[in-house]
Amino acid sequence: MNRVENKVAIVTGAVSGIGKATAKLLASHGAKVVVADLDEHQATNVIKEITDAGGIAEFQKLDISDEANWINIIAFAKATFGKLDILVNVAGVSLLKPIVETTSEEFDFVVKVNLKGAFLGMKHAVGLMQKNGSGSIINISSSLGIVGAPNQSVYTATKGAIRLLTKTAAIEFAPFNIRVNSVHPGLTETNMTKDLIVNEEVKKMVLGPTLLGRPAKPEEIANGILFLASDEASYMTGSELVIDGGYTAQ
Ligand SMILES: NC(=O)c1ccc[n+]([C@@H]2O[C@H](COP(=O)([O-])OP(=O)(O)OC[C@H]3O[C@@H](n4cnc5c(N)ncnc54)[C@H](O)[C@@H]3O)[C@@H](O)[C@H]2O)c1
Repeated sequence: MNRVENKVAIVTGAVSGIGKATAKLLASHGAKVVVADLDEHQATNVIKEITDAGGIAEFQKLDISDEANWINIIAFAKATFGKLDILVNVAGVSLLKPIVETTSEEFDFVVKVNLKGAFLGMKHAVGLMQKNGSGSIINISSSLGIVGAPNQSVYTATKGAIRLLTKTAAIEFAPFNIRVNSVHPGLTETNMTKDLIVNEEVKKMVLGPTLLGRPAKPEEIANGILFLASDEASYMTGSELVIDGGYTAQ
């Protein structure tokens, strides 16, 4: 079933975790995917996994916090695949520290990657999507973009900001038939959380309120992203897709 056939997608953070699962799923449903990440080491493996399964993908190194990098990758998508239909802003970093121990440099770094990165992506993708007459942008926020959590002040602040940035972008881009939605994963088994998931205290704190009582697999988040990327979600914009096992339900 090719739910995004002939569409061209850029996925950031695409060599690991949620981004990798998303790139693979979009490619398996017929999209041509620009696999974008700061980390080049896993790129060959990801491209091989996609192409071995019959998909089409190209790797581009991208630092999402660098505007010139975004200009280059949009030009690459245009030159390589001729257009852009889907942008999935997945790449992000976390920081686990109490407010009083968080340095000014750490604050700036997390904001620059998590918030400015998605902002720059949208800013530069929209022109090429406009030429198409349509587009779908998906910004990965978090359940921690909806509720707070101890020791995650900067992270939750950026994820909350992504939620409203998404709604404002949806308003600005609607006249061009470009939809913008946010996805809010709960605790998901990835490199970002591998140390957290084995910590009994954290496990109790996060999985306690998670109604389904377990972390998500990256593929379970990618399923929601595929839906928003596809024309099945043609009447969805400015919305929040919460995929958190019920963490924020009570
Ligand atoms: N894992 C979770 O529990 C969880 C929950 C909610 C939201 N999220 C969000 O999902 C997204 C993906 O997280 P993940 O868990 O898959 O993490 P991950 O660490 O497995 O993957 C993140 C990827 O982003 C890349 N990256 C980091 N900084 C970058 C930059 N400046 N430019 C380009 N690429 C960069 C990394 O190289 C890595 O490949 C993040 O935005 C995260 O905040 C994760």
